[in-house]
This record gives sequence, C-alpha cells and structure tokens, in this order.
Amino acid sequence: MNRQVTTPLLNTEGLTRRYGGLVAVSNLSFEIRANEILGLIGPNGAGKSTTFNLISGFVKPSAGRLFIDGHDMTNKSSIQISRKGLVRTFQHGSLMRSMNVHDNLLIGAMGALKGVQRHAREARVQEAANMLGLRPYLHETAGNLPHGLQRLVSIAIAFAVHPRILCLDEPLTGLNQTEVVATLEVFRRIRAQHGCAILLVEHNMKAVMQICDRIVVLHHGQMLATGTPSEIRQNTQVVSAYLGTRHEH
Ligand SMILES: Nc1ncnc2c1ncn2[C@@H]1O[C@H](COP(=O)(O)OP(=O)(O)O)[C@@H](O)[C@H]1O
Ligand SMILES: [Mg+2]
Repeated sequence: MNRQVTTPLLNTEGLTRRYGGLVAVSNLSFEIRANEILGLIGPNGAGKSTTFNLISGFVKPSAGRLFIDGHDMTNKSSIQISRKGLVRTFQHGSLMRSMNVHDNLLIGAMGALKGVQRHAREARVQEAANMLGLRPYLHETAGNLPHGLQRLVSIAIAFAVHPRILCLDEPLTGLNQTEVVATLEVFRRIRAQHGCAILLVEHNMKAVMQICDRIVVLHHGQMLATGTPSEIRQNTQVVSAYLGTRHEH
C-alpha cells in the first residue's frame, strides 16, 4: 500500500539495446534498492557496461523502460538522470591529468553543481576529499598519482555530486590487494555515512562476494541469475557460465 516503501530507487523493465544484429542487453528487468550495494557481474561482453550506459542515459535503449523513484526516465538525457541522483564513473578514467586533484574534483563535479554557490561547491570538494582519503593529495598533479589514487579521485568526483545511486564501472581494476581492501572500506563508509545505493560492476569476485548485498549476473546480455552472494556462488548455471571458469578481462 505504501508506495514509498515499495518503490525501488531504480528499476528497469525489459531494457534492450541492439547494435546491428547484436543484442548487447536483452529484455533486462532489475532493480536497485535504497541503501544497497548491488553487484553486476558476468563474462566479458555480457553487457555490463552497456547496462551501465543505459541506466545513466549515455546510451538510448532499443526497447524497454527505465524508472528512477518510479518516474519514467526512459530516453532522458544523462544530465536529467544525474539530476535524479544517479551518478557514474567511467571504466577508463576521465581525469584531467595535468590538473591537481582539487581542481579535478571541482571541475569534474561542476556540471552537476551548477546551481550550487561557490563556497558550497568548495565544501563539497573538501567533503569528497575527506571521504575518499584524498586530503593529503589535493595539490598533487592528478596524472602523477599512483593508479589506485587516480581511481579514488574519479570516485570522489562522483561522490561530490551527492549521488543517491553511485554507479562504479570496474573501480578495482589494476589495484593491488591493499588498495582493494582500502577501497572496499571507502564504499562501506560512503554507504553508511551518506546512505546512497551503490551499483558495482566488477570482475574481482572475492571483493564482490564480500561487499555486495545482492548480485545480478549477466550472460549474453540476459539476466542469468540474481540473489545474495551465497545464492550466486551456489548457482550451478552461474558457476558454469562464469564463476567456474578462469576469466580474463
Ligand atoms: N558501441 C557499440 N557498438 C557495437 N557493439 C557494441 C557497442 N558497445 C558494446 N557492444 C557490444 O555489446 C556487447 C556487450 O558489451 P559490453 O556491454 O561492453 O560488455 P561488458 O561490459 O560486460 O564486457 C559486446 O559484444 C560488445 O562488443
Ligand atoms: Mg565493460
């Protein structure tokens, strides 16, 4: 009866994207619930990045619908979608390498912070730097930072926008084990302190299984399975399509 309790933050109905004869995402229906960390996994070419691009408005669906807070956002622009609180990072970082971290945060988040006053924008930059542990690096040139820290800068840019749904495309790629542990801790902190949902596209299965509340498994653009990490680990179809194989990415 109470719509506010039952409406997911985001849901899709039969979302589909074709590229010529190839169906990159096929009839996909899933939801992101308030405050959850949802993993989106699957082999290379399964349609993870396309799904990401579809829900963030960077790619238009060939069919199906997208809802945020129950509002129909199908075919809306990425800017309209980000105004609803969905913010994403890119799989291949998009930092301005010759600028310092502070300016990357300020300018990177600028589009979404347009209406925000200058001092409030500066406060957002400081808050994001604190949240991601980047305070000591604010005046370092972004391109000179180790890879792991550059990844955190990308996430900080997204976080500065105060997302309600933070979408991260392979944020752990190229990180060493210490950096992975630290980054997972950051995700937990963001969720706990900020109360946003996180969509995590990631190949690092150990990390996904540790941190996600629920997982959606894609295979050939379709949903192969969805469930808790332990349900997914025990799903024989998932094991034979993905988890049981040694995969590169
Ligand atoms: N812009 C595009 N043009 C043509 N084919 C694409 C495009 N983007 C993705 N694809 C194809 O769609 C399928 C899914 O790709 P993608 O979503 O990137 O998968 P994943 O992120 O799971 O590796 C792949 O076969 C890929 O080659
Ligand atoms: Mg991808």
